[in-house]
Amino acid sequence: MKQITIQTPVLVCSVEELDVELRQLVEKAKEMTQNAYCPYSHFHVGAAALLADGQVVAGSNQENAAYPSGLCAERTTLFAANANHPQTPVKALAIASYAHGHYSKDVISPCGACRQVMLETEKRFGQKMKVVLYGENECYVFETASDLLPLNFTADSL
Ligand code: THU
Repeated sequence: MKQITIQTPVLVCSVEELDVELRQLVEKAKEMTQNAYCPYSHFHVGAAALLADGQVVAGSNQENAAYPSGLCAERTTLFAANANHPQTPVKALAIASYAHGHYSKDVISPCGACRQVMLETEKRFGQKMKVVLYGENECYVFETASDLLPLNFTADSL
């Protein structure tokens, strides 16, 4: 028997310390929180995907009276990016949230299903996708989506 430790490298920084490309992406994700349709949770989430050709595709969470029919901002955004630009890799994804009249002080942590979709986006293009989680106090930057989902299940597992 042995114990192994799985480590996740995360860069923690202020939004001002991000390079201009990622800072703009975070701004877009923050802006998109205002487009959330969240009459049930009142929790606004925005996401913005930077494509390899420089285009930005953005989205927000979309809720539904039949609760499970709603979708998180991350998946809304990545599915829109991949549906409209199926040949273009996603270089980075920024995520922000807004509730109780202000942006979140701490980073918002994507749910498991969104992490799985991030991973698939990365795998289908064979290119790493950075993930930036925004918080007013600090941001977390993951160099690759797979850092958010260790021991993951991919097509390689089939
Ligand atoms: N939500 C997201 O859009 N992204 C996340 O990472 C976590 C949760 C949404 C889903 C739902 O509309 C609301 O936030 C409350 O869970």
